[in-house]
Amino acid sequence: MKVAVIGGGGREHAIIRKLKQSRDVSELYALPGNGGIAEDATCVNIKATDLDGIVAWCTENAMDYVVVAPDDPLVMGLVDLLNEQGIPCFGPNKAAAIIEGSKAFSKELMKKYGIPTARYEIFSDMQEAIDYVNTCRGPIVVKADGLALGKGVIIADTREEAVEGIRTIMQERKFGASGDTIVIEEFLEGPEVTVLSFTDGKVVRPMLSSMDHKRALDGDRGLNTGGMGVIAPNPYYTDEIAAECMERIFLPTIEAMNQEGRTFRGCLYFGLMITENGPKVIEYNSRFGDPETQVVLPMLEGDLFEIMQATTNGTLADVDFSFKDGCACCVVAASSGYPEHYEKGFEITLPKEHDTIYIAGSRLADKDGRTVQLTNGGRVLGVTETAPTLAEAIDKAYATMQTVHFDNMFYRKDIGKRALAAK
Ligand code: AMP
Ligand code: GLY
Repeated sequence: MKVAVIGGGGREHAIIRKLKQSRDVSELYALPGNGGIAEDATCVNIKATDLDGIVAWCTENAMDYVVVAPDDPLVMGLVDLLNEQGIPCFGPNKAAAIIEGSKAFSKELMKKYGIPTARYEIFSDMQEAIDYVNTCRGPIVVKADGLALGKGVIIADTREEAVEGIRTIMQERKFGASGDTIVIEEFLEGPEVTVLSFTDGKVVRPMLSSMDHKRALDGDRGLNTGGMGVIAPNPYYTDEIAAECMERIFLPTIEAMNQEGRTFRGCLYFGLMITENGPKVIEYNSRFGDPETQVVLPMLEGDLFEIMQATTNGTLADVDFSFKDGCACCVVAASSGYPEHYEKGFEITLPKEHDTIYIAGSRLADKDGRTVQLTNGGRVLGVTETAPTLAEAIDKAYATMQTVHFDNMFYRKDIGKRALAAK
């Protein structure tokens, strides 16, 4: 079967590497892909947000199945457009992707169906939001309603900071229309856990839990990023908590979406916080996480394409898959300055064997008659290693990182440290 994957980051590289092993995948395409993905799939230079371009290309080239990996095309309704052309997809339609596309929607959903989350208020009027904040105590969390590259969340220690955050989002419109509505919520404390899950709208099958490291610098300092590294499984996600999440969060969410006439099919991402009062939802995403995918998929034992098709066909309960014992660690290498200003265009050198290095931002170029990869983004690559213990997986990932080079490279030195301390 001819399969296209939409997107061009580390997540898409991990998905493509796994799909390559699938029995029924004969041809793999990436739109747009990147310089590293080009080793594993045919890259087609069409942007993930060029919906018309994607639909035209997939139709003309008779794709049998399309995996829509990033949030933007999902929220914009790419799955609906491809389905109209008779092309089945992995990923939710527009009506269901709103669970990530609008935080106001997801908060109202959780309230209506009694799914545990932080207490909150929604505002479309700036002055009302400011008046409300002036009645709050303690750290205040201000979130833009719509997509903001994971950067639309402000954790304010004081009311003044919260007011400043509201102005940045609603008046200066830092995230454009995404900030016309905001959610102000209670600050929750506790370890964070990511659980990706497959669902066909009938059953939900969680994947291995993981722990992302969102801040740019060691010790969880610096700005929020897309994610600087991740380990799996997450030691805070015990069997007892997993059972509680299934009963109080995962199944109720699937059922709530069905009730709303917005059946979710694809990968539903649960961003959870394990608070003193039990697990609560911090956010939903309508897709695989990045970099979480880069530790979860290497641990998957099963045929990814078969699982994906089952989410589309409603036969997920019948597919056999599991996750390996042991642990995985992924360390992300970024260009210095990320997530703010950084330079691009530095040559990347990789070890000869690089099956578990996922490229997030590179392009191919000619240099003295050789084809080389040049850095082409903030997050450049992720190095993943697996091992029987977490300590070994971390050591192996950092050892492999020593074999990678590009100018202005930086990475966190403490990925997995907190997880090790939790054991
Ligand atoms: P989000 O984009 O919703 O995942 O938020 C980004 C990050 O902000 C999360 O990973 C948390 O670390 C933090 N965060 C979001 N909401 C809250 C909250 N209510 N209380 C504490 N931290 C939060
Ligand atoms: N790593 C966080 C995300 O994918 O949203």
